Amino acid sequence: MQPSLSVTVAGLRLRNPTMLSAGVLGMTAKSLRMVWEAGAGAVVTKSLGLQPRTGYANPTIVDIGCGFINAMGLPNPGVHEYIRELSSLPDREGMVIVGSVYGSDPGQFAEAADIVAQGGVKAVELNVSCPHAKGMGAEVGQDPCLVEEIVSAVKDTIRLPVFAKLTPNVTNISDLARAAERGGADAIVAVNTLRAMAIDIEAQRPVLANRVGGLSGPAIKPVAIRCVYEIAEAVGIPVIGCGGVTSWRDVVEFLLAGASAVQIGTAIAYRDLKVFDEANNGISEYLAGKGYKEVKDIIGLSHGA
Ligand code: DHB
Repeated sequence: MQPSLSVTVAGLRLRNPTMLSAGVLGMTAKSLRMVWEAGAGAVVTKSLGLQPRTGYANPTIVDIGCGFINAMGLPNPGVHEYIRELSSLPDREGMVIVGSVYGSDPGQFAEAADIVAQGGVKAVELNVSCPHAKGMGAEVGQDPCLVEEIVSAVKDTIRLPVFAKLTPNVTNISDLARAAERGGADAIVAVNTLRAMAIDIEAQRPVLANRVGGLSGPAIKPVAIRCVYEIAEAVGIPVIGCGGVTSWRDVVEFLLAGASAVQIGTAIAYRDLKVFDEANNGISEYLAGKGYKEVKDIIGLSHGA
């Protein structure tokens, strides 16, 4: 018999532990459906705010070989427009869509979460960790008190499960995770991108228009694994891994570190949408080879080993 790949995260049942991460192919309802049909267990929208944003000038993304550095500037059509589009999506009920929102204070997060919740999403992810957008990311997400206040304001406003997506750009990410848990978060997503820079040696200037951006891809996987491991020891709520997942082996590594599900984003640029099927098939074979009947059985297994 094939091992069962289904996992439950904060009461939400996923058909397999892979998820589309925020910011990649989540700009339209149709692209979300395409990723769902490619086999993801859940899909996360681009981060949405109360007002539309055009984002930064180009260049907004650079391939540095071991990953990408991007500073898009949170471009999005605004949460009101986005949920209009979501409501027109056929079969939306059968999909597990997670709405990602950002804001500059607890009230904005709560309002954006309330609106996206009306769009038929099954959970809300709080982007308290954009590595550069002024007033909306790192500034709020590096302060445990603010993280607790934001999560708590959202929890007072909506009934859906709430995930807090944390930044690794702090000395102690467990402090942030504990703060999110105190605020009532139902799960932690670890991690968002690492603050990074690339300089063009011919032009002798920074590559990105915003100069600083967020590093994603294989380069950050060991950092993300360490963060998931530490957070799993620090809190009682589930952890969702994110950062540099390219193959089924990476997904298994995150599960062993303590993640209940694992987000994939940058790898789509390397592997295409088949990355989800490849990951799920590889996990199945790994589990069968080791005699496990369910993927759930390996979550957190590396702790205490
Ligand atoms: C952007 C947002 C993020 O959360 C991130 O990690 C990288 C880039 C952005 O839209 O610029």
